[in-house]
Amino acid sequence: MSYLSGKVAFITGAGSGIGRGTAERLAREGADVCVVDIDLPGAEETASLVREFGRRAIAVKANVASKPQIQAAADRCVQELGRLDICVANAGIGRMGSILDMELKDWQDQVDINLTGVFLTVQAAAQRMVRLGQGGRIICISSLAALNVAPGMWGYSATKAGVAIMVRGWAQELGRFGITVNAIGPGVIDTPLAHGLAGDEGGPIRRALEQRTPVGRVGRPADIAGLIAFLCSPDADFMTGSYLLMDGGLRDAPPLSGIEQNEEVMQERMRHMAAAMERRARQQPLIDER
Ligand SMILES: NC(=O)c1ccc[n+]([C@@H]2O[C@H](COP(=O)([O-])OP(=O)(O)OC[C@H]3O[C@@H](n4cnc5c(N)ncnc54)[C@H](O)[C@@H]3O)[C@@H](O)[C@H]2O)c1
Repeated sequence: MSYLSGKVAFITGAGSGIGRGTAERLAREGADVCVVDIDLPGAEETASLVREFGRRAIAVKANVASKPQIQAAADRCVQELGRLDICVANAGIGRMGSILDMELKDWQDQVDINLTGVFLTVQAAAQRMVRLGQGGRIICISSLAALNVAPGMWGYSATKAGVAIMVRGWAQELGRFGITVNAIGPGVIDTPLAHGLAGDEGGPIRRALEQRTPVGRVGRPADIAGLIAFLCSPDADFMTGSYLLMDGGLRDAPPLSGIEQNEEVMQERMRHMAAAMERRARQQPLIDER
């Protein structure tokens, strides 16, 4: 029997990237999954992938920045899947900008989703875990950016550093209920959110990143999902309040000189920026529904 048989995972932002990879991995280990995302078609696609492992799944549309929506999603998880044992507070966005002209709305969206959204998700899950009395595992997705900062990324870094510190307080409060709370700091993982940083397979940005990363490759959602699976396993019973960095060694890697001036890199970067703006235009009306 798999170690997560009979358990139910509540995963936000599971319609894409790391959240989807985590839903698949936890299903492989035996868990049923409540797939939460603001993007319902994405969530439904993930739910189908979970069912391919023979597990139950429901797709729920919710904006993590909305307390009523995330509370209702957690209620549906318990009503339809019977329990809530694992919570992965994963939904997040990235908004870049200089201190000289960052829009207040960009700042607020990022804080509302990356920081308040994690608080509301963990609150909704922890309340139900305590009520059900069977303990639980809470994993919050922070970032390597909680430790490092770059021009234009200070707002994102602030939210991710906030997540890394909040889990320590929650671990203190929830330990007596048999609930552990940990944060994970992914480096660059190849998902739609990070395409600008990870680049295309075989392209100039990817080659430069691979050269710079000590393990010689970019991260995959399955890497982070594996660490989440470990945190949900009996081997992690004694781990709580931790921040686990998984970045292929990128934190201490020296920058590659001259790469920013490379014409090929500049062109690929421009393409990714345009794609990111398009994606954002599609997502924004959903984010504004709160
Ligand atoms: N990809 C990376 O390199 C990387 C690195 C460090 C940390 N992270 C973090 O990992 C998490 C997952 O990111 P990803 O790379 O898989 O990105 P992604 O864009 O592929 O997936 C994020 C998902 O979150 C959903 N989402 C966005 N706003 C939401 C909201 N308000 N309510 C509910 N769902 C919402 C999106 O619809 C999407 O399905 C994020 O918190 C991100 O900050 C990613």
